[in-house]
Amino acid sequence: MEQYPERRIASADQISMLARLLAPARRIVAFTGAGISTESGIPDYRGPGGVWASGAPPTLDDFLRGEEMRRAYWERRRVNYPELASRHPNRAHRMLARLERAGRLSGVVTQNIDGLHQKAGHNPDRVIELHGSAHHVRCMTCGTIWDADVIQQRLERDPGVPECERCGGVLRTTTVLFGEPMPAAPLRRAVDLARSCDVMLVIGSSLVVQPAAQVPLVAQQAGARLALVNRESTPLDPLAELVIAADAGPTLAAVERLLFENGLQPGGWQTGQK
Ligand code: APR
Repeated sequence: MEQYPERRIASADQISMLARLLAPARRIVAFTGAGISTESGIPDYRGPGGVWASGAPPTLDDFLRGEEMRRAYWERRRVNYPELASRHPNRAHRMLARLERAGRLSGVVTQNIDGLHQKAGHNPDRVIELHGSAHHVRCMTCGTIWDADVIQQRLERDPGVPECERCGGVLRTTTVLFGEPMPAAPLRRAVDLARSCDVMLVIGSSLVVQPAAQVPLVAQQAGARLALVNRESTPLDPLAELVIAADAGPTLAAVERLLFENGLQPGGWQTGQK
């Protein structure tokens, strides 16, 4: 069931304004949240029917508290991961990947753990996952990283709490849990990108979770032009040059057509194959 059945469509003026804002840019950074993936069938967190609407987010303490919590965590994972792994990028993800192929996008800073930016064709080195990834599992003792598919196969053969095959340690996905400090290196990379971009394009985030939500602010304060595409208002709206309260997929697809196919080509937009 589509989480947001009622469409919110940007006006032709808004689409034209976003295309004109992007057209001369050479160092665009996209900052994305769960809202960019709802059209791919992955619910967001704070929207109606979002993930947190059906229960509080798991915290690091919950996970460490004991075997029962970990058993529940891995059982949910065993059931839910195949569906997440089967999801595909949508028009918004594909448009950003095309901006990268056209040499205009320096990177994507995402709060998402779904891996859809990489699936859309970005150079993985240009995707900064601030909150980790659902597609990797790490041993909390020896630090070994496992591919999620490998662990999923073990879970399907032998449901329960998988242990690290190397040291017997506790395994968990590399996603950042509430109450856990965000890994410093990705955040540092994201802030460096934000400081040197000419346009910060925020897509599908409520911008309420810190310190991630600082990244677009750093860009704006460093002089970048700030544009937001989000169904709801956000705390950064007053600082943005352009706010489009509409669905990301159709909005970015329309901007892509203007930039690449309908002749708004100042600054020599390459065709940037689709
Ligand atoms: N197009 C545009 N905006 C959308 C769409 C869409 N198709 N679908 C949803 N949105 C908007 C919602 O209105 C909401 O404002 O996307 C935003 C998503 O906000 P959140 O659910 O708060 O997700 P996010 O901002 O990514 O949350 C940040 O919080 O729970 C933690 O770790 C989790 O990474 C997550 C972080």
